[in-house]
Amino acid sequence: MNFELTISPINEIDASVEVVLVIKKNFKHDFVQDKKLLKKAGFKAAQDETYLLIGKNRLYVGIESINDENLRVTMAKAIQSLSKTKYKSLKIASYMADKNAYTNIRAMVEGLLLGAYSFDTYKTTKTKQPIKNIIISLEEYNALELDMEKAALAVNLGQITADATNFTRDIVNTTPDDCYPKTLANIAKNLAKEFPLECNILKPKQLKKEKMETLLAVARASRHKPRFIHLSHKPKNPKAVISLVGKGLTYDSGGLSLKPGTAMVNMKLDKSGGAAVLGMMKAVAELNLDIEVHGFVGAVENMIGGDAYKPDDVLVAKNGKTIEVRNTDAEGRLVLADTLGYAQQEVEADYLFDFATLTGASVVAVGHYTSSVMGNGDVPKDMVIKAAKASGELATKLDFNKHLRTCLKSNVADISNMSNTPYGGAITAGIFLDNFIDKKNKDKWVHVDIAGPAYVEHVWGENPIGGSGAGVRMMIKLLETLAEN
Ligand code: BES
Ligand code: ZN
Ligand code: ZN
Repeated sequence: MNFELTISPINEIDASVEVVLVIKKNFKHDFVQDKKLLKKAGFKAAQDETYLLIGKNRLYVGIESINDENLRVTMAKAIQSLSKTKYKSLKIASYMADKNAYTNIRAMVEGLLLGAYSFDTYKTTKTKQPIKNIIISLEEYNALELDMEKAALAVNLGQITADATNFTRDIVNTTPDDCYPKTLANIAKNLAKEFPLECNILKPKQLKKEKMETLLAVARASRHKPRFIHLSHKPKNPKAVISLVGKGLTYDSGGLSLKPGTAMVNMKLDKSGGAAVLGMMKAVAELNLDIEVHGFVGAVENMIGGDAYKPDDVLVAKNGKTIEVRNTDAEGRLVLADTLGYAQQEVEADYLFDFATLTGASVVAVGHYTSSVMGNGDVPKDMVIKAAKASGELATKLDFNKHLRTCLKSNVADISNMSNTPYGGAITAGIFLDNFIDKKNKDKWVHVDIAGPAYVEHVWGENPIGGSGAGVRMMIKLLETLAEN
């Protein structure tokens, strides 16, 4: 999809279809063009409502009020409603809430690209998005004077953000036998070829040397050997150093504590945290942010077999702590224990963020659309929540407490990989990870459980069925902010 910005008024632009936004409260006014026809058709200008006035090649879309979030979803709905048409180019005016809101243009671009996404790798008939060109007129209905350079920058930011999100969606949606640990490593290597990123891949031998026994234990029964990915973006004189860690379970069968059939469906999603980190690194490189950013992904498949790790095993993590395995399906925290350990050994970061589809309990607690944000320090947690909101993602805090901390006690090892209570599972998983965070990093670390939004089997807002790219947009926003300061 190509974007073009022009100062020409909307009526002078040559395009096959025009998208017209109708603000709900304005619909009663006479200045709304085609009002009579729209009324006749039953159009009410409700948020996300679309009506294609085919004779005039105009797509009307309702919007509650002009803000980033509404614009993003509205544009996604608009492009989706045109997906089966033959229109090749689309024109639209700018809609800005106030004169500084170039974020409105960015949100529009994001909505168009995120909404146009479809994954048909495994369909024999491919559906092609018909619209190739988008022309945005700087003619603005609030009569604001728009700066072409700032608008172009906003378009570019929107494109990079949405492209990174769609890149992550593709990885998540790829089947476990097409996307296994080595595949993730190859994707990382290719990123390092395309962009000025450094890439280091650790294979089993090196993982052994690095004493990453918990990661290796989870990986043991799979015919796909594990890989550990370290990607880095290193500008001169960076304003901050950030580490991003992702859970990259390319398949989670549950291991010997096998998941029931219905719970196993979609467990290709368990690489979403790792895939999100790869998407973030792509965006960081494209934006050439003035911060040093490291991405670490533990890429592993959790399977069954004669060589499988088992409940009752005691594993020694990279930081020396011993872990009693009581459930092999609580494998993400084991992989993350070593991944976080390696990340902290390799890089002295100002902030350390991890992303994981860690618990079904997070989905139970906050629903399918929201990420759970945990950690010891309120400052970085609030940064994540704020960035999520600004980017169009949903995230909420779940607090640790000393009572839940006691639930991970083990009679035989330093800690159990499973809580002794069935309640508060997202939090006890977060507390487990906290045991693998070095003292000096306690307040720098944030854990984001993306189990809810990472993969949803229906369309929601600007997100498609399947992988959503959860985490990518919120972190691009957060990293942009850190690079500005
Ligand atoms: N990958 C799952 C968590 C998950 C469940 C993500 C549903 C997305 C949707 C994780 O490895 C897991 O199986 N967790 C267990 C932990 C339990 C055994 C302590 C869970 O949530 O049931
Ligand atoms: Zn599991
Ligand atoms: Zn898992």
